[in-house]
This record gives sequence, C-alpha cells and structure tokens, in this order.
Amino acid sequence: MPTSLLAGPTITYSQDELKQLAAQAALKHIAPKLGPTSIVGVGTGSTTNHFIDALATIKHTFDAAVSSSEGSTERLKAHGIQVLDLNSAARVDVYVDGADEINAQRQMIKGGGAALTREKIVAASADEFVCIADHSKLVTQLGNFPLPVEVIPMARSLVARALVQLGGQPIWRQGVITDNGNWILDTHELNITDALLLESEINNIPGVVCNGLFAQQCASVAFLATADEILKI
Ligand code: 5RP
Repeated sequence: MPTSLLAGPTITYSQDELKQLAAQAALKHIAPKLGPTSIVGVGTGSTTNHFIDALATIKHTFDAAVSSSEGSTERLKAHGIQVLDLNSAARVDVYVDGADEINAQRQMIKGGGAALTREKIVAASADEFVCIADHSKLVTQLGNFPLPVEVIPMARSLVARALVQLGGQPIWRQGVITDNGNWILDTHELNITDALLLESEINNIPGVVCNGLFAQQCASVAFLATADEILKI
C-alpha cells in the first residue's frame, strides 16, 4: 500500500514541480546509503533531470555515475559528476529513473524518451531501482501509454506484424533514432493483464532489441508526488 511521507496544507504545484519533489524524495532516500566508492545509476527524462540537478548537490559523497542516455551523460558532466562506462563499474549501488506508467506492483512502462534499452541494462546492474514520478503516472492497469519497443531497423515491419498478432497497434516513431542506432514502435491498444508474460513474448520476436515493460525487473521502491504528499510504494 502507498505510504504518505509528507503532511501539511495542500499547495498547488505544476506537474514539473511535482517531478522535482519526487526527485528530492529519491535524493533523501539514497543519500544516507552513499559512500566514497558508490556508483549511482541515472535514468533519462524530465523527472530524472531534476534528480541529476539534486544529485549534483551531494556529488562529493559518491564516486561516479553511470548513465542510461547521451542526454543524461551530458547533464551529469555539466554538473561536474564523473560518468563511468558501465563496463568499468564493479557494481551500481542504486538506479534512479522516471516512468511513463507504474502500477501498485511497481511494474512500469518506460521508454517515452526512447532510452528504454540502456535504462533496462543499467537498472539490471543496480542493487536497487528507485522510481520517481508525479502521481499522474500511477495506473491500475498498464497500457494506456503506448508501449515503446526498440527494433533493429530492418525488422520494423516484421516486428510490427508480430505486435498486431499480440493485439497491439504499433506506430513507428518516425524521425527518432535511439542512442543505439535503432527505431521505436509505440504500441497502442495492448491489453496488459500479464505484464511478465507479455514482456517475454515481445522480447522473443526476432528484431526486438528491448521493450518498455519493466515487469520482470520492477522498481524496488517508487516515490510519487501529489499536491500534498509523496506516496511511497
Ligand atoms: C525515457 C523514460 C522516462 O523515464 C519516461 O519517459 C518518463 O519521462 P519523464 O520523467 O519526462 O515524464 O523511460 O526513456
């Protein structure tokens, strides 16, 4: 069950301010766990950008970051935070990232920013996955947000036909090339009643690099900001 971490009068916040509050809650959660050898995994997106800015205020307390996108790497470096190649990191203490949707089981849809593959890789390397979002991302069933699927370009049509067989309506995100040089199919209309199974089924389609379901590897904890509290799930 979600737990409220803040009490006080209701203030009107913009969605961006809520993202910032969630990022601050994540910083508060991870700060006591960091030491001079700690590596922080960093996601991608507007909520994560707030987290990177907050992380910069404690950059002297940990060793380095590993990043899930060129964009986040640039922002981390601009703050003077060392960014390691994941292969050079012996371990990643914690990974902090946003989500496009999250349910009460902390399963997520991610990839709205096209960084899903590297996000899943860094998340898989981390001891803990902290999800941060404004409360609009909390859903009872995943799938209203179209599921991003990263595909090898030559397999786009093949994968699209297979996604239709699974009940989806894939739309090619034209003009977007991922950091890995691939394309994205945003898949609408999926009836996601078994996220664990669907994640595997989509991964098994030849040409799929990764899909945006984070069910097999859900968040360890989520901080979701509402107008008057931070929900901890
Ligand atoms: C990027 C992601 C982001 O975490 C997701 O799209 C949420 O973004 P934002 O924090 O901007 O709402 O998965 O690939």
